[in-house]
Amino acid sequence: MSNDLLITVENVTLRFGGVVSLRDVSLEMRRGEILAVIGPNGAGKTSLFNSVTGVYQPQEGKITFSSQKAPPLSVIGKKTHRIARAGVTRTFQASRLFSALTVFENAKIGAEDHSGIGVVGALVKGPRTRRGEKESDRVASEVLKFVGLFPEAHTIASQLSYGARRRLEIARALATDPEVILLDEPAAGTNPSEKLELTTLIRRVRDERGVSVLLIEHDMRLVMALAERLYVLNFGSVIAEGTPEEIRANQDVVDAYLGTTHDETSA
Ligand SMILES: Nc1ncnc2c1ncn2[C@@H]1O[C@H](COP(=O)(O)OP(=O)(O)O)[C@@H](O)[C@H]1O
Ligand SMILES: [Mg+2]
Repeated sequence: MSNDLLITVENVTLRFGGVVSLRDVSLEMRRGEILAVIGPNGAGKTSLFNSVTGVYQPQEGKITFSSQKAPPLSVIGKKTHRIARAGVTRTFQASRLFSALTVFENAKIGAEDHSGIGVVGALVKGPRTRRGEKESDRVASEVLKFVGLFPEAHTIASQLSYGARRRLEIARALATDPEVILLDEPAAGTNPSEKLELTTLIRRVRDERGVSVLLIEHDMRLVMALAERLYVLNFGSVIAEGTPEEIRANQDVVDAYLGTTHDETSA
């Protein structure tokens, strides 16, 4: 892992009326790392993801995405699709699959988002889009093979097991050809064997595809097994940063989070 910075969050404050979701948050993510953000429900983890992906606009601070392919992008104030095009993609805490579409169609939507055809273009199928569509088919097949869902390509998404749905969400995100993938509680609601599969898959995303991973997850076994570094949020503030060993030994973190019953919760 290099010390080359991929995402920098500098003194970001995000408010909703009187609620402060992020309070002077600073964070650095290095290119190629698996970085986790942990903390109790309501700590601001999803707000941070929403700020990095352009869904929320913090009132103060600066967020920079440094692509390998383009000059650094100042994220705050940019549209979500602009940030996604630049190489930042995500999955959502609550599944956003198209449950009436097949596994293949769901993966293809990720590829089409990226190629600029869009969902409408894909449905209209003019001559202009046919070449792009062939490419989207190729990408969809490739990402489904990667997550182990190619045999289920023609299954309707709603019929998948919970763990398979979560893998499909990762496949759809990978189809956009990202440099970094933000995973918001990817293992929420899964059983222990599905959690193990997801752990292996997330590690392969980084190791085999070179995609950096920013991870929010409540399951401490999964987080500690995957993350090289962690940030801990509490009431919108960063209260600790360090390796899994450092975080486990940090008394503030134990008091705020690790000492409480947090497993299996989701908010
Ligand atoms: N769109 C919003 N409008 C108002 N308050 C919000 C909004 N999004 C998040 N918040 C508030 O920000 C705080 C942090 O929430 P969130 O980022 O979802 O935490 P976490 O993901 O760590 O559970 C909570 O108090 C939540 O109610
Ligand atoms: Mg959340």
